Amino acid sequence: MKLAALLLALCSALAQAAEPLVIAHRGASGYLPEHTLAGYELAIRMGADYIEPDLQMTRDGVLVAIHDDTLPRTTNVAELFAARNGGYRVADFTLAEIRTLTVKPTTTGAATYPGFTPASAELRVPTFDEVIALAKAQRAVAGRPVGLYPEAKQADPAMEDQLLATLQREQLTRAADRVFVQSFSDATVQSLAVKQRALGMSLPLVLLGHAITLPDGRAMMAAPGGRMLPLKDVAAYASGVGVAMANTKYPLTKAWIAQAHDAGLQVHGWTFAKLDAAAAADEYRTFLDMGLDGVFSNYSDLAVKARNAFVAGRK
Ligand code: G3P
Ligand code: CA
Repeated sequence: MKLAALLLALCSALAQAAEPLVIAHRGASGYLPEHTLAGYELAIRMGADYIEPDLQMTRDGVLVAIHDDTLPRTTNVAELFAARNGGYRVADFTLAEIRTLTVKPTTTGAATYPGFTPASAELRVPTFDEVIALAKAQRAVAGRPVGLYPEAKQADPAMEDQLLATLQREQLTRAADRVFVQSFSDATVQSLAVKQRALGMSLPLVLLGHAITLPDGRAMMAAPGGRMLPLKDVAAYASGVGVAMANTKYPLTKAWIAQAHDAGLQVHGWTFAKLDAAAAADEYRTFLDMGLDGVFSNYSDLAVKARNAFVAGRK
């Protein structure tokens, strides 16, 4: 084998995770209110490898785990507070105010899960610090590593700084600490790469977006503003990409994943959201067979079952 081909094969093998990862998308969000300590804990109990806090910043500069930049979809804010600046932006409320809110179930979730009593039964918006503390505490309970997969929801240098400072303070600084940091903004991921190097950190970074295949077959990442990013350029600052796996306009393909692996990038797919067990198993199997290295799932139990069956079938 020629040296270039050997290097390519090595790169591809290194990029592909040994065992596909189960990432609890917004916690066990199909069962319990999203981004709650109870939901993260249930996902860990179900065997998820990573829990995923999406991060927003409060008015007083605290990182909290919530997907939207506004509060009403997932909390009872409108029952307790008048609107501010025409709405209910997280950035317009202090942490003390946000702590008074209750997080509501969405989609197929409920306020409780049969047979499960969480360590923290309050359905509050947690701080990032609390999510980290939960993951660390659950490592001891579960007897295995529990990873964190925070997403910077704003392309905001202040958020980048605080995210990295928090992880550094918690001594979560290297890949072995089982943390991925993700963003939809390529500028943010590039900035995080520079900043974490300056801090002596080396966490794997993940660029989120859509998997585009050009008419000539080349795989690209779609970035904000309709820009197309060649995978080798993304690989200069990221270790992986997180892509929509069921986008009808931009379907994720085996060839796209293979090109990402060749560029040295892991590929994690979002969002696995089927509740029907048979339909979910088929979907996981289809995408794991294509080479996906991780799945963002609303139903960690179904994802773990499918992943384990896939791994067992590989042996
Ligand atoms: O971060 C991966 C996936 O979670 C992206 O979707 O909108 O749920 O953050 P979203
Ligand atoms: Ca996310």
